[in-house]
Amino acid sequence: MSGYLNEFLYGYYPYVAVTVFLLGSLARYDLAPYTWKTGSSQLLRRGQLRLGSNLFHIGILIVFVGHLVGLLTPIAVFDAFGIGHGFKQVMAIVVGGVAGLMCLAGIAILLHRRLTDPRIRRNSSFADNAILILLGVQLLFGLLTIPLSLGHLDGSEMVKFMAWAQRIVTFQGGAAAAIADVSFVFKIHMFLGLTIFLVFPFTRLVHVWSAPVRYILARRGYQIMRTGGGGAVAARETAARLAARRPACG
Ligand code: HEM
Repeated sequence: MSGYLNEFLYGYYPYVAVTVFLLGSLARYDLAPYTWKTGSSQLLRRGQLRLGSNLFHIGILIVFVGHLVGLLTPIAVFDAFGIGHGFKQVMAIVVGGVAGLMCLAGIAILLHRRLTDPRIRRNSSFADNAILILLGVQLLFGLLTIPLSLGHLDGSEMVKFMAWAQRIVTFQGGAAAAIADVSFVFKIHMFLGLTIFLVFPFTRLVHVWSAPVRYILARRGYQIMRTGGGGAVAARETAARLAARRPACG
């Protein structure tokens, strides 16, 4: 891969993807709050849905937390706790591998259900199917990194990915250069991962925000009103009304 392309894909594209992810999610929440859901078809083929959904969600949550901790914890913290690079690499392979396989099995079941049942198929949008396929392909590339990582059990490659991620989130230069010489399998996996951030606001994945957003709104006394298009506005108005009614303390 040319130096310029490497710099563009792994030095600049991460910021494009994360900006679209954050602003896109915010815009969708404000402009179309009632499309912020899974668009579930859970009344149809329940047994298959439950198994597929559980495998998918448990697997992806473990992979997500593993990536977050594994890539973003400063190396000095692992060193301070005496956790060697080799041990961390083996943990990533074993825990990430098992969780990745669970998630892949879940996606296979969900895709089979979505594509083979005519009623569910009719009710699935292009984005519903495309995001499942994208996540499945991403998982395949993630799992394909394992044989490569088995060739670097000392964790030497892993340290490059940590340096990349930490330079990106701390806005330091040289992030793309840190991974310039890694295998194309890692590079495709990382590119697809960033692309998932980019398309996130335009898919049913936005429902992931529901738990933290509901928690924050509940703590601040907000209530979502079903008033058609202006839900977020109504929520703000309700909060203001509640605040005005609350007796002044002290
Ligand atoms: C921007 C997003 C992502 C980045 C930068 C990223 C990066 C990486 C890296 C560097 C590895 C190799 C870890 C190592 O062996 O040291 C890896 C492995 C893996 N990734 Fe990702 N990934 C991303 C998103 C995802 C997503 C969305 C999934 C699942 C749908 C996923 C699934 C996996 C799996 C199953 C493995 C193999 C097991 C493991 O090492 O944890 N990744 N990823």
